[in-house]
Amino acid sequence: MIDPFYEKFVRKLLFRMDPEDTHEHTIHGLSWLSKLRPLCRWMHRFNGMAGPQPVRLFGLDFPNLVGLAAGLDKNAECLPAFAAMGFGHVEAGTVTPRKQPGNERPRLFRYPEEEAIINRMGFNNEGAEMMALRIGRSMPRKRRMIPVGINIGKARSTPLEDAVQDYLDCFRALADLADYFTVNISSPNTPGLRKLQEESYLRELLGSIQDENLDRAKRLGTEPVPILVKIAPDLDYIQIETLLAILLELGYDGVIATNTTIARPGTFKNVKENGGLSGNPLQGRSDKVIRFIHRTTGGCLPIIGVGGIMDVASAARKLDEGASLVQLYTGMIYRGPALVRALVKGLSEQQG
Ligand SMILES: Cc1cc2nc3c(=O)[nH]c(=O)nc-3n(C[C@H](O)[C@H](O)[C@H](O)COP(=O)(O)O)c2cc1C
Repeated sequence: MIDPFYEKFVRKLLFRMDPEDTHEHTIHGLSWLSKLRPLCRWMHRFNGMAGPQPVRLFGLDFPNLVGLAAGLDKNAECLPAFAAMGFGHVEAGTVTPRKQPGNERPRLFRYPEEEAIINRMGFNNEGAEMMALRIGRSMPRKRRMIPVGINIGKARSTPLEDAVQDYLDCFRALADLADYFTVNISSPNTPGLRKLQEESYLRELLGSIQDENLDRAKRLGTEPVPILVKIAPDLDYIQIETLLAILLELGYDGVIATNTTIARPGTFKNVKENGGLSGNPLQGRSDKVIRFIHRTTGGCLPIIGVGGIMDVASAARKLDEGASLVQLYTGMIYRGPALVRALVKGLSEQQG
């Protein structure tokens, strides 16, 4: 399922450039499209047609099952354009409290044969205040086309012991604008970040964020903001079980499974680049993690399934394993933006 025009012309052209230059040009173009709000709205109605009925999850209405995964629109520069492509929700970020440059370039690598990417971007972003300004302008609550999730993380320079403060700072700066938050403790490119998935850190971190959320809701007389946690595919099942128990205990709203992997399966055995692997080679592992979470929780914790979605079959598999929604990133790089509409249409036909 590849749009032949994208494969023969657009992708060929884009793949001649350095991957990060391509990314920057794309974001630049989409940020221009985002300014043409009526056009984006019209395109959204055409491309993002609802399934039999919108999906209601943690108090939000999702017009379809397909979302944009975190990392593509790190600064929330193109939200209306992604809605125009047909996405039923978009996750901006990962954002940190202050602007930071990320790792040194090159830090993004394509593997076209395997339809995969390795990245070690390291949370390059313009900071929470700038993101708040952008979302306020391009997707204010009153004119919001689709739910906007905000994925939050800690700065590279912040020691692990002080990580809680970074997440709280992001939460406070963006809580008025987020339809849901994702606590990212699973990116492999910020040294030590994945340690936050260990029980000793996890309870304090997630407890503090949820306390802040509940205090805010009480103060303002509103509902708490739904909060999800994004996990790595490299955790073992005991670690996942521990994490799930804490999420349920603290009243978290769901889990996003999964982030990129540090494993190097199959043909990647001898690939030397450090960073997180995404796309096709991640698919099987991500599906297994989703199945495990669904079985362990008896289906009572909503799952957003992400990792290696390339076509309707791979998206449908994630739903079969227990995901309620799906997200993608790498699939769109290889198969083009038409993949979004194809997924929305294909999944809605399967739903009946
Ligand atoms: C270049 C790149 C940057 C990413 N940046 C982030 C990020 O900032 N935060 C995050 O939670 N996930 C990030 N991800 C992970 C994706 O959101 C997703 O979980 C992962 O790529 C698996 O999905 P996919 O196979 O559809 O790409 C990034 C992925 C890529 C390829």
